[in-house]
Amino acid sequence: MSLVEQAKKVAAYQAVDENFPESAKVVGIGSGSTVVYVAERIGQLKNKDSFICIPTGFQSTQLIIDNGLKLGTIEQYPDLDIAFDGADECDPELNLIKGGGACLFQEKLVALSAKKFIVVADYRKKSPKYLGIQWRKGVPIEVVPNSWVKVSQELKKLGAKSIDLRSGGSAKAGPVITDNNNFLIDADFGEIADPVKLHEQIKLLVGVVETGLFCKMADKAYFGEEDGKVSSI
Ligand code: A5P
Repeated sequence: MSLVEQAKKVAAYQAVDENFPESAKVVGIGSGSTVVYVAERIGQLKNKDSFICIPTGFQSTQLIIDNGLKLGTIEQYPDLDIAFDGADECDPELNLIKGGGACLFQEKLVALSAKKFIVVADYRKKSPKYLGIQWRKGVPIEVVPNSWVKVSQELKKLGAKSIDLRSGGSAKAGPVITDNNNFLIDADFGEIADPVKLHEQIKLLVGVVETGLFCKMADKAYFGEEDGKVSSI
């Protein structure tokens, strides 16, 4: 296992071990490559038949099924005891950039619905100061498809240095389609000194479904370090 994979795994295992409530009834499972180890660890619990897991997209639905966990929907269970998710970047105030895996809308819905939101990541995700230092691909923004040109124009007015409609690359000619049938724009705002303000400005644009700025939502973040240890904020 590579150093980075090892870091993801130790962070995820420790996060589950220290936070999973004994009496949990409803648990949110995020998306991405780090949460794979969260689902694995939760799948090892002896009482895994006693709670329902709520996914944040197609991938996490499969993770829940593959680990023998009970699957439910956010419509059935809108109040969660806890949610675990990865992040593309985390600042010292626990503000996050998310959406590198295109699942930000359902991730935010699930995180917001949970009493406790725990982040798991490897050392590359930890920003020393602002968001936008470690994650240089821009803020992911989910938009209704036919609004993308207008929203792009408005994002430039808000100070975006570059804007990309995320494409499927060699896997698909054309834009990535989210689990909610929308498009994704990656907007590079450089270092983000005030993520709350930026989120609010973007969210007001017609056509924007949600932004990948998760501000003041996380309760704790675990980072697998290069030396094999786990740090937390
Ligand atoms: C999915 O859209 C993202 O928000 C992921 O949670 C984030 O990209 C972290 O993914 P990794 O664990 O793969 O780095």
